[in-house]
Amino acid sequence: MSLDYQFPENFWWGSAASATQTEGGENGPKGKNIWDKWYESEPNRFFENIGPEVTSDFYNRFKEDIANMKKIHHNSFRLSISWARLIPGGRGDVNPEAVDFYSKVFDELIRNDIEPFVTLYHFDMPLELQEIGGWENREVTEAYADYAEKAFELFGDRVKKWFTFNEPVVPVEGGYLYDFHYPNIVDAKKAIQVGYNTMVAHAKAVKLYHENYDGKIGIVLNLTPSYPRSQNPADLKASHICDLFFNRSFLDPAVKGEYPQDLIDLLAEYNQLPATKPEDKALLKENLVDLLGVNYYQPRRVKARDSQPNPDSPFMPDWFFDNYEMPGRKMNPYRGWEIYEKGIYDIMINLKENYGNIESFISENGMGVQNEERFLVDGRIEDDYRIDFIKDHLKWLHKSIQEGCNVKGYHLWTFMDNWSWMNAYKNRYGFYSVDLKTQQRTAKKSASWFAEASEKNGFND
Ligand code: NOJ
Repeated sequence: MSLDYQFPENFWWGSAASATQTEGGENGPKGKNIWDKWYESEPNRFFENIGPEVTSDFYNRFKEDIANMKKIHHNSFRLSISWARLIPGGRGDVNPEAVDFYSKVFDELIRNDIEPFVTLYHFDMPLELQEIGGWENREVTEAYADYAEKAFELFGDRVKKWFTFNEPVVPVEGGYLYDFHYPNIVDAKKAIQVGYNTMVAHAKAVKLYHENYDGKIGIVLNLTPSYPRSQNPADLKASHICDLFFNRSFLDPAVKGEYPQDLIDLLAEYNQLPATKPEDKALLKENLVDLLGVNYYQPRRVKARDSQPNPDSPFMPDWFFDNYEMPGRKMNPYRGWEIYEKGIYDIMINLKENYGNIESFISENGMGVQNEERFLVDGRIEDDYRIDFIKDHLKWLHKSIQEGCNVKGYHLWTFMDNWSWMNAYKNRYGFYSVDLKTQQRTAKKSASWFAEASEKNGFND
Protein backbone atom coordinates (compact mmCIF):
# COMPACT_ATOMS: atom_id res chain seq x y z
CA MET A 1 0.00 0.00 0.00
CA SER A 2 1.51 3.26 -0.95
CA LEU A 3 1.74 6.22 1.37
CA ASP A 4 0.48 9.74 0.73
CA TYR A 5 4.08 10.90 0.54
CA GLN A 6 6.26 8.08 -0.68
CA PHE A 7 9.90 8.99 -1.34
CA PRO A 8 12.16 7.49 -4.02
CA GLU A 9 14.05 4.33 -3.18
CA ASN A 10 17.28 4.81 -1.22
CA PHE A 11 16.27 8.28 -0.08
CA TRP A 12 18.76 9.58 2.52
CA TRP A 13 17.09 9.97 5.90
CA GLY A 14 19.30 11.37 8.59
CA SER A 15 20.59 14.40 10.40
CA ALA A 16 23.60 16.67 10.50
CA ALA A 17 26.04 18.00 13.07
CA SER A 18 29.52 19.49 13.24
CA ALA A 19 32.74 18.88 15.15
CA THR A 20 33.03 22.07 17.20
CA GLN A 21 29.37 21.86 18.14
CA THR A 22 29.44 18.29 19.45
CA GLU A 23 32.85 16.76 20.13
CA GLY A 24 33.96 18.82 23.09
CA GLY A 25 36.95 21.08 22.47
CA GLU A 26 38.77 19.89 25.56
CA ASN A 27 38.39 16.21 24.75
CA GLY A 28 41.46 14.48 23.40
CA PRO A 29 44.53 16.25 22.09
CA LYS A 30 43.69 18.98 19.62
CA GLY A 31 45.00 22.29 18.34
CA LYS A 32 42.98 25.40 19.08
CA ASN A 33 40.57 26.83 16.60
CA ILE A 34 39.02 30.29 16.41
CA TRP A 35 36.11 29.28 18.67
CA ASP A 36 38.38 28.10 21.48
CA LYS A 37 40.23 31.36 21.16
CA TRP A 38 37.22 33.68 20.98
CA TYR A 39 35.55 32.02 23.92
CA GLU A 40 38.72 32.31 26.02
CA SER A 41 39.01 36.00 25.29
CA GLU A 42 35.34 37.04 25.41
CA PRO A 43 33.22 34.41 27.18
CA ASN A 44 30.46 36.91 27.81
CA ARG A 45 29.67 37.13 24.12
CA PHE A 46 28.30 33.58 24.34
CA PHE A 47 24.82 32.81 25.61
CA GLU A 48 24.99 32.12 29.35
CA ASN A 49 28.80 32.17 28.99
CA ILE A 50 28.84 28.60 27.74
CA GLY A 51 31.77 27.72 25.50
CA PRO A 52 32.85 24.87 23.24
CA GLU A 53 34.88 22.84 25.78
CA VAL A 54 32.36 20.10 26.44
CA THR A 55 29.36 20.57 24.12
CA SER A 56 27.64 17.19 23.78
CA ASP A 57 30.76 15.14 24.45
CA PHE A 58 30.45 13.20 21.20
CA TYR A 59 34.17 12.45 21.45
CA ASN A 60 33.46 10.06 24.31
CA ARG A 61 29.89 9.10 23.57
CA PHE A 62 29.82 8.52 19.84
CA LYS A 63 28.97 4.82 20.20
CA GLU A 64 25.88 5.56 22.21
CA ASP A 65 24.93 8.33 19.77
CA ILE A 66 25.35 6.13 16.74
CA ALA A 67 23.26 3.43 18.44
CA ASN A 68 20.58 6.10 18.91
CA MET A 69 20.82 7.05 15.24
CA LYS A 70 20.29 3.43 14.35
CA LYS A 71 17.24 3.30 16.61
CA ILE A 72 15.58 6.05 14.62
CA HIS A 73 16.50 4.44 11.30
CA HIS A 74 19.04 6.90 10.04
CA ASN A 75 20.70 5.64 6.89
CA SER A 76 23.07 8.62 6.69
CA PHE A 77 24.61 11.21 8.98
CA ARG A 78 26.58 14.37 8.19
CA LEU A 79 29.37 15.33 10.53
CA SER A 80 32.54 17.35 10.15
CA ILE A 81 36.20 16.75 10.78
CA SER A 82 37.86 19.33 12.97
CA TRP A 83 40.85 20.58 11.02
CA ALA A 84 42.61 21.67 14.23
CA ARG A 85 42.07 18.22 15.72
CA LEU A 86 43.33 16.31 12.69
CA ILE A 87 46.26 18.65 12.05
CA PRO A 88 46.97 20.79 15.11
CA GLY A 89 48.14 24.18 13.92
CA GLY A 90 46.50 23.56 10.55
CA ARG A 91 49.71 22.51 8.78
CA GLY A 92 52.15 19.66 9.22
CA ASP A 93 51.77 16.33 10.94
CA VAL A 94 48.51 14.62 11.63
CA ASN A 95 47.48 13.88 15.17
CA PRO A 96 47.34 10.06 15.51
CA GLU A 97 44.65 10.21 18.19
CA ALA A 98 42.42 12.20 15.88
CA VAL A 99 42.98 9.67 13.11
CA ASP A 100 41.99 6.96 15.52
CA PHE A 101 38.91 8.86 16.71
CA TYR A 102 37.52 9.65 13.26
CA SER A 103 38.33 6.13 12.03
CA LYS A 104 36.35 4.67 14.86
CA VAL A 105 33.44 7.00 14.25
CA PHE A 106 33.27 6.23 10.52
CA ASP A 107 33.65 2.49 11.16
CA GLU A 108 30.93 2.55 13.76
CA LEU A 109 28.56 4.40 11.43
CA ILE A 110 29.23 1.98 8.60
CA ARG A 111 28.78 -1.02 10.88
CA ASN A 112 25.35 0.37 11.65
CA ASP A 113 24.50 0.90 7.98
CA ILE A 114 24.67 4.67 8.36
CA GLU A 115 26.59 6.35 5.58
CA PRO A 116 28.96 9.08 6.79
CA PHE A 117 28.71 12.35 4.87
CA VAL A 118 31.76 14.36 5.83
CA THR A 119 32.28 18.11 5.85
CA LEU A 120 35.87 19.33 5.86
CA TYR A 121 35.26 22.82 7.13
CA HIS A 122 32.40 23.86 9.35
CA PHE A 123 33.34 27.38 10.56
CA ASP A 124 36.42 26.21 12.49
CA MET A 125 39.66 27.76 11.32
CA PRO A 126 42.77 26.56 13.19
CA LEU A 127 43.97 29.45 15.30
CA GLU A 128 47.50 29.54 13.89
CA LEU A 129 46.11 29.97 10.40
CA GLN A 130 43.74 32.71 11.51
CA GLU A 131 46.76 34.45 12.97
CA ILE A 132 48.25 34.72 9.49
CA GLY A 133 44.96 36.13 8.17
CA GLY A 134 42.73 33.07 7.77
CA TRP A 135 40.87 33.05 4.47
CA GLU A 136 42.17 36.53 3.68
CA ASN A 137 45.53 34.93 3.09
CA ARG A 138 45.90 32.94 -0.09
CA GLU A 139 48.46 30.64 1.63
CA VAL A 140 45.64 29.25 3.71
CA THR A 141 43.99 27.86 0.57
CA GLU A 142 47.12 25.74 0.10
CA ALA A 143 47.08 24.58 3.70
CA TYR A 144 43.41 23.67 3.27
CA ALA A 145 44.13 21.67 0.10
CA ASP A 146 46.83 19.72 1.98
CA TYR A 147 44.44 19.08 4.82
CA ALA A 148 41.73 17.90 2.41
CA GLU A 149 44.16 15.60 0.65
CA LYS A 150 45.20 14.12 3.98
CA ALA A 151 41.59 13.52 4.96
CA PHE A 152 40.83 11.83 1.61
CA GLU A 153 43.91 9.64 2.00
CA LEU A 154 43.08 8.62 5.55
CA PHE A 155 39.33 8.11 5.25
CA GLY A 156 38.51 8.04 1.53
CA ASP A 157 38.26 4.24 1.56
CA ARG A 158 35.22 4.53 3.82
CA VAL A 159 33.82 7.98 3.20
CA LYS A 160 32.27 8.37 -0.23
CA LYS A 161 30.48 11.67 0.21
CA TRP A 162 32.56 14.73 1.00
CA PHE A 163 31.69 18.38 1.40
CA THR A 164 34.38 21.00 1.18
CA PHE A 165 32.57 23.71 3.16
CA ASN A 166 29.48 24.23 5.22
CA GLU A 167 27.67 27.52 4.58
CA PRO A 168 30.73 29.44 3.37
CA VAL A 169 28.84 32.72 3.37
CA VAL A 170 28.44 32.57 7.15
CA PRO A 171 32.10 33.11 8.10
CA VAL A 172 32.10 35.98 5.58
CA GLU A 173 29.04 37.65 7.11
CA GLY A 174 29.85 36.72 10.67
CA GLY A 175 33.60 37.28 10.68
CA TYR A 176 33.94 40.21 8.27
CA LEU A 177 30.66 42.12 8.10
CA TYR A 178 28.27 41.71 10.99
CA ASP A 179 30.42 40.71 13.98
CA PHE A 180 29.08 37.33 15.02
CA HIS A 181 32.12 35.15 14.24
CA TYR A 182 35.79 35.56 15.08
CA PRO A 183 37.85 37.52 13.95
CA ASN A 184 35.04 40.12 14.33
CA ILE A 185 36.31 42.36 11.59
CA VAL A 186 33.99 44.74 9.79
CA ASP A 187 35.48 45.34 6.39
CA ALA A 188 33.54 44.76 3.20
CA LYS A 189 36.58 44.48 0.96
CA LYS A 190 38.14 41.84 3.17
CA ALA A 191 34.81 40.04 3.31
CA ILE A 192 34.79 39.70 -0.46
CA GLN A 193 38.37 38.42 -0.47
CA VAL A 194 37.54 35.87 2.20
CA GLY A 195 34.55 34.59 0.21
CA TYR A 196 36.59 34.39 -2.96
CA ASN A 197 39.55 32.60 -1.39
CA THR A 198 37.16 30.12 0.17
CA MET A 199 35.96 29.16 -3.29
CA VAL A 200 39.53 28.86 -4.54
CA ALA A 201 40.25 26.48 -1.65
CA HIS A 202 37.05 24.63 -2.45
CA ALA A 203 38.01 24.13 -6.10
CA LYS A 204 41.48 22.90 -5.12
CA ALA A 205 39.96 20.23 -2.91
CA VAL A 206 37.45 19.19 -5.58
CA LYS A 207 40.32 18.84 -8.06
CA LEU A 208 42.39 16.67 -5.74
CA TYR A 209 39.43 14.48 -4.99
CA HIS A 210 38.42 13.96 -8.61
CA GLU A 211 41.97 13.11 -9.60
CA ASN A 212 42.27 10.25 -7.15
CA TYR A 213 38.94 9.09 -5.77
CA ASP A 214 35.66 7.80 -7.07
CA GLY A 215 33.10 8.99 -4.51
CA LYS A 216 31.25 12.28 -4.67
CA ILE A 217 32.33 15.68 -3.54
CA GLY A 218 30.17 18.73 -3.06
CA ILE A 219 29.56 21.77 -0.94
CA VAL A 220 26.83 22.64 1.56
CA LEU A 221 25.18 26.01 0.94
CA ASN A 222 22.53 27.80 2.95
CA LEU A 223 20.40 28.84 0.03
CA THR A 224 18.04 31.49 1.26
CA PRO A 225 15.40 32.46 -1.24
CA SER A 226 15.22 36.21 -1.64
CA TYR A 227 11.71 37.56 -1.95
CA PRO A 228 11.17 41.30 -2.36
CA ARG A 229 8.71 42.75 0.13
CA SER A 230 7.02 44.71 -2.58
CA GLN A 231 7.14 45.02 -6.32
CA ASN A 232 8.63 48.50 -6.26
CA PRO A 233 11.89 48.74 -8.22
CA ALA A 234 14.04 49.50 -5.19
CA ASP A 235 12.89 46.39 -3.35
CA LEU A 236 13.29 44.26 -6.45
CA LYS A 237 16.84 45.51 -6.86
CA ALA A 238 17.72 44.97 -3.19
CA SER A 239 16.33 41.47 -3.38
CA HIS A 240 18.42 40.73 -6.45
CA ILE A 241 21.54 42.00 -4.67
CA CYS A 242 20.78 39.76 -1.72
CA ASP A 243 20.43 36.78 -3.98
CA LEU A 244 23.73 37.58 -5.68
CA PHE A 245 25.61 37.96 -2.45
CA PHE A 246 24.12 35.38 -0.10
CA ASN A 247 23.36 32.65 -2.62
CA ARG A 248 24.93 33.05 -5.99
CA SER A 249 28.43 34.11 -4.94
CA PHE A 250 28.89 30.47 -3.87
CA LEU A 251 26.29 28.58 -5.86
CA ASP A 252 27.42 29.80 -9.27
CA PRO A 253 31.13 29.08 -8.92
CA ALA A 254 30.42 25.70 -7.26
CA VAL A 255 27.93 24.45 -9.85
CA LYS A 256 28.71 26.49 -12.98
CA GLY A 257 32.34 27.32 -12.36
CA GLU A 258 31.93 31.06 -12.75
CA TYR A 259 30.60 34.14 -11.00
CA PRO A 260 27.44 35.93 -12.16
CA GLN A 261 28.30 38.92 -14.32
CA ASP A 262 25.92 41.10 -12.29
CA LEU A 263 27.91 40.36 -9.17
CA ILE A 264 31.20 41.18 -10.86
CA ASP A 265 29.73 44.48 -12.11
CA LEU A 266 28.39 45.36 -8.70
CA LEU A 267 31.71 44.69 -7.00
CA ALA A 268 33.52 46.69 -9.65
CA GLU A 269 31.18 49.60 -9.00
CA TYR A 270 32.20 49.57 -5.32
CA ASN A 271 35.83 48.98 -6.17
CA GLN A 272 35.73 45.70 -4.30
CA LEU A 273 36.79 43.10 -6.79
CA PRO A 274 39.00 40.58 -4.98
CA ALA A 275 42.62 39.88 -5.82
CA THR A 276 42.78 36.86 -8.11
CA LYS A 277 45.41 34.80 -9.91
CA PRO A 278 45.32 34.12 -13.63
CA GLU A 279 44.92 30.38 -13.11
CA ASP A 280 41.81 30.77 -10.92
CA LYS A 281 39.35 30.99 -13.78
CA ALA A 282 40.25 27.58 -15.14
CA LEU A 283 40.50 26.12 -11.64
CA LEU A 284 36.93 27.15 -10.89
CA LYS A 285 35.60 26.24 -14.33
CA GLU A 286 37.09 22.76 -14.36
CA ASN A 287 36.24 21.63 -10.86
CA LEU A 288 32.51 21.52 -10.41
CA VAL A 289 30.68 19.78 -7.60
CA ASP A 290 29.01 16.40 -8.02
CA LEU A 291 26.49 16.99 -5.30
CA LEU A 292 24.97 19.96 -3.54
CA GLY A 293 23.86 20.06 0.09
CA VAL A 294 21.16 22.65 0.72
CA ASN A 295 20.57 24.09 4.18
CA TYR A 296 17.22 25.79 4.39
CA TYR A 297 15.73 27.48 7.44
CA GLN A 298 13.87 30.58 6.39
CA PRO A 299 13.57 32.94 3.44
CA ARG A 300 14.83 36.49 3.24
CA ARG A 301 12.14 39.14 2.79
CA VAL A 302 13.94 42.05 1.29
CA LYS A 303 13.17 45.70 1.58
CA ALA A 304 15.45 48.37 0.17
CA ARG A 305 17.13 50.71 2.62
CA ASP A 306 15.16 53.83 3.36
CA SER A 307 18.34 55.79 3.89
CA GLN A 308 21.08 56.39 1.36
CA PRO A 309 22.90 53.26 0.18
CA ASN A 310 25.89 52.44 2.31
CA PRO A 311 28.84 53.93 0.41
CA ASP A 312 31.23 51.20 1.55
CA SER A 313 29.33 48.16 0.50
CA PRO A 314 26.13 47.05 -1.13
CA PHE A 315 26.08 44.23 1.39
CA MET A 316 25.60 46.18 4.60
CA PRO A 317 22.00 47.12 4.36
CA ASP A 318 19.38 47.41 7.04
CA TRP A 319 17.48 44.50 5.56
CA PHE A 320 20.06 42.17 7.00
CA PHE A 321 17.67 41.44 9.84
CA ASP A 322 15.30 39.47 7.75
CA ASN A 323 13.32 37.77 10.45
CA TYR A 324 10.76 40.53 10.73
CA GLU A 325 7.24 39.72 11.71
CA MET A 326 5.34 40.32 8.50
CA PRO A 327 1.59 40.43 8.43
CA GLY A 328 0.28 37.13 7.19
CA ARG A 329 3.57 35.25 7.65
CA LYS A 330 3.86 32.15 9.78
CA MET A 331 6.46 32.51 12.50
CA ASN A 332 8.20 30.05 14.76
CA PRO A 333 6.82 31.32 18.10
CA TYR A 334 9.69 29.77 20.07
CA ARG A 335 12.49 31.49 18.23
CA GLY A 336 11.07 34.13 15.94
CA TRP A 337 12.15 32.96 12.52
CA GLU A 338 9.67 32.80 9.70
CA ILE A 339 8.44 29.37 8.67
CA TYR A 340 7.91 29.18 4.93
CA GLU A 341 7.82 25.60 3.76
CA LYS A 342 7.37 26.44 0.11
CA GLY A 343 10.87 27.98 0.12
CA ILE A 344 12.34 24.48 -0.02
CA TYR A 345 10.40 23.83 -3.22
CA ASP A 346 11.37 27.15 -4.78
CA ILE A 347 15.04 26.36 -4.17
CA MET A 348 14.79 22.97 -5.79
CA ILE A 349 12.90 24.27 -8.81
CA ASN A 350 15.58 26.94 -9.25
CA LEU A 351 18.29 24.26 -9.15
CA LYS A 352 16.40 22.26 -11.72
CA GLU A 353 15.77 25.13 -14.05
CA ASN A 354 18.96 27.14 -13.73
CA TYR A 355 21.63 24.80 -12.38
CA GLY A 356 21.37 21.73 -14.61
CA ASN A 357 19.25 19.87 -12.06
CA ILE A 358 22.37 19.16 -10.04
CA GLU A 359 22.05 16.22 -7.66
CA SER A 360 21.12 17.67 -4.29
CA PHE A 361 19.70 16.94 -0.88
CA ILE A 362 18.54 18.87 2.14
CA SER A 363 21.64 18.86 4.29
CA GLU A 364 19.99 20.93 7.06
CA ASN A 365 16.49 22.05 7.90
CA GLY A 366 15.18 22.42 11.40
CA MET A 367 13.40 24.34 14.06
CA GLY A 368 15.17 26.01 16.96
CA VAL A 369 13.21 26.30 20.20
CA GLN A 370 14.08 28.31 23.29
CA ASN A 371 13.41 26.84 26.74
CA GLU A 372 12.29 23.61 25.23
CA GLU A 373 11.99 21.98 28.67
CA ARG A 374 8.57 23.61 28.87
CA PHE A 375 7.36 20.84 26.58
CA LEU A 376 8.55 18.01 28.82
CA VAL A 377 5.87 15.45 29.57
CA ASP A 378 6.89 12.42 31.65
CA GLY A 379 10.55 12.96 30.86
CA ARG A 380 10.16 13.34 27.09
CA ILE A 381 9.89 16.49 25.00
CA GLU A 382 6.60 16.45 23.10
CA ASP A 383 7.69 18.49 20.13
CA ASP A 384 4.65 18.24 17.90
CA TYR A 385 5.58 21.63 16.43
CA ARG A 386 8.82 20.06 15.10
CA ILE A 387 6.95 17.12 13.61
CA ASP A 388 4.67 19.56 11.79
CA PHE A 389 7.66 21.59 10.67
CA ILE A 390 9.47 18.56 9.24
CA LYS A 391 6.35 17.12 7.66
CA ASP A 392 5.37 20.38 5.98
CA HIS A 393 8.84 20.82 4.52
CA LEU A 394 8.96 17.21 3.39
CA LYS A 395 5.66 17.63 1.59
CA TRP A 396 7.03 20.46 -0.50
CA LEU A 397 10.23 18.53 -1.08
CA HIS A 398 8.16 15.58 -2.23
CA LYS A 399 6.31 17.82 -4.67
CA SER A 400 9.61 19.04 -6.10
CA ILE A 401 10.71 15.43 -6.63
CA GLN A 402 7.43 14.65 -8.35
CA GLU A 403 8.16 17.53 -10.67
CA GLY A 404 11.53 16.11 -11.60
CA CYS A 405 13.95 17.76 -9.17
CA ASN A 406 17.02 15.66 -8.51
CA VAL A 407 16.66 15.51 -4.72
CA LYS A 408 18.19 12.57 -2.90
CA GLY A 409 17.58 13.06 0.80
CA TYR A 410 16.66 15.04 3.88
CA HIS A 411 18.81 15.64 6.95
CA LEU A 412 17.47 17.43 9.98
CA TRP A 413 19.57 19.89 11.92
CA THR A 414 20.33 18.24 14.23
CA PHE A 415 20.72 14.83 15.76
CA MET A 416 20.98 15.96 19.40
CA ASP A 417 20.81 19.39 20.97
CA ASN A 418 24.16 21.00 20.50
CA TRP A 419 26.27 24.07 21.07
CA SER A 420 25.39 26.68 18.48
CA TRP A 421 28.23 29.22 18.35
CA MET A 422 27.34 32.51 20.05
CA ASN A 423 23.90 31.17 20.89
CA ALA A 424 25.47 28.21 22.73
CA TYR A 425 22.49 26.16 23.98
CA LYS A 426 19.85 28.83 23.61
CA ASN A 427 17.92 27.25 20.74
CA ARG A 428 17.44 23.50 20.78
CA TYR A 429 17.15 21.68 17.48
CA GLY A 430 17.77 18.00 18.19
CA PHE A 431 15.84 14.78 17.76
CA TYR A 432 17.39 13.96 21.12
CA SER A 433 17.53 16.31 24.03
CA VAL A 434 20.75 16.49 26.02
CA ASP A 435 20.89 17.15 29.74
CA LEU A 436 23.90 19.43 30.05
CA LYS A 437 24.68 18.29 33.60
CA THR A 438 24.52 14.55 33.08
CA GLN A 439 24.90 14.39 29.30
CA GLN A 440 21.93 12.08 29.25
CA ARG A 441 20.25 11.82 25.85
CA THR A 442 16.49 11.36 25.53
CA ALA A 443 14.57 10.93 22.30
CA LYS A 444 11.95 13.61 21.66
CA LYS A 445 8.60 12.77 20.12
CA SER A 446 9.85 13.95 16.71
CA ALA A 447 12.51 11.23 16.80
CA SER A 448 9.79 8.57 16.88
CA TRP A 449 7.92 10.22 14.07
CA PHE A 450 11.06 10.44 11.96
CA ALA A 451 12.01 6.83 12.73
CA GLU A 452 8.74 5.66 11.27
CA ALA A 453 8.94 7.91 8.23
CA SER A 454 12.52 6.75 7.54
CA GLU A 455 11.62 3.12 7.95
CA LYS A 456 8.64 3.36 5.61
CA ASN A 457 10.41 5.78 3.30
CA GLY A 458 7.47 8.16 3.55
CA PHE A 459 4.43 9.08 5.57
CA ASN A 460 0.72 9.65 5.49
CA ASP A 461 -0.87 13.04 5.93
C1 NOJ B 1 23.53 26.18 10.24
C2 NOJ B 1 24.87 25.74 10.66
O1 NOJ B 1 25.46 24.90 9.72
C3 NOJ B 1 24.92 25.13 12.03
O2 NOJ B 1 26.25 25.08 12.44
C4 NOJ B 1 24.03 25.87 12.97
O3 NOJ B 1 24.14 25.46 14.28
C5 NOJ B 1 22.61 25.78 12.46
N1 NOJ B 1 22.56 26.45 11.19
C6 NOJ B 1 21.55 26.36 13.38
O4 NOJ B 1 21.68 27.74 13.51
